[in-house]
Amino acid sequence: MDCDLSERTALVTGAGRGMGRETAKRFATNGADVVVNDVDPDVAEETAAEIRDLGVECIGIGADVTDSAEVEAMVETATERLGPIDILVNNAGVGDAGPFLDEGYDDTFELNIDVHLNGSLNCIRAVVDGMVERGYGKMINVTSIHTKNGVGMSPAYDVGKFSLLGLTKSLALELGREGVRVNAVAPGWVNTRMTEEFSDAVRKQILDNNPLGRFADPEDVAQATTFLASPASDYINGHELRVDGGQVPIDSWRLDSR
Ligand SMILES: NC(=O)c1ccc[n+]([C@@H]2O[C@H](COP(=O)([O-])OP(=O)(O)OC[C@H]3O[C@@H](n4cnc5c(N)ncnc54)[C@H](O)[C@@H]3O)[C@@H](O)[C@H]2O)c1
Repeated sequence: MDCDLSERTALVTGAGRGMGRETAKRFATNGADVVVNDVDPDVAEETAAEIRDLGVECIGIGADVTDSAEVEAMVETATERLGPIDILVNNAGVGDAGPFLDEGYDDTFELNIDVHLNGSLNCIRAVVDGMVERGYGKMINVTSIHTKNGVGMSPAYDVGKFSLLGLTKSLALELGREGVRVNAVAPGWVNTRMTEEFSDAVRKQILDNNPLGRFADPEDVAQATTFLASPASDYINGHELRVDGGQVPIDSWRLDSR
């Protein structure tokens, strides 16, 4: 299988930690030059330094994907230093969400739509013209187990990820003709900062409903994203690739703590 990414430049958002970080490292192992973005510039630079040790070109850029001016400036700098972006992974994400009827749902809807949908849109806008001009590009949007069936008690997150899935499907139809493939990777529950504070009850319910009996590791997701970024998946477009061990979505509405 041809997962060679040499001669390619990739931008991975939210890559200072977790899955994004592993994905950026895996891309580098497969030969890509990498732009490591994160809203936290320190972790972006830490990851970038580690990746440079792998022998590829890599820069860390602190930028908030929800700020279109910051994203444009980031892509300009990245292009000057590493060349045009061939691969974009919209991975930056937030886990904040709660039940619809509880406090503060307006804020969490705004936040989830802003980061997952608008943040991805900002990055897509900043790279799409170049990809179309060159007749080649790969975009991978990180959705979630939440797009399988929704997950109760977190409608704002569900909406953020379902809207990103809709964007993926729609852009795949339009951009496929231009040589730009747009796919999604949908992780199950993964061992990252985002899940470390899950209660024992939630953790047990997840594991009871996972045929493989474990959470994913970031590397499990990084492997799938690398496949979607590589020539091995050139005829795959508009697909949501689940990396969830066959997880059945949990009915967390039953775990209502109110
Ligand atoms: N952990 C899980 O179980 C899980 C499951 C399914 C999907 N996801 C999704 O996977 C992606 C990665 O999550 P993770 O689990 O690695 O979490 P993480 O918290 O370890 O990493 C997310 C990174 O995104 C960065 N980020 C947040 N907002 C940003 C912004 N506005 N601009 C730039 N960077 C920003 C954070 O600083 C952080 O470093 C997210 O989109 C998340 O929604 C996570």
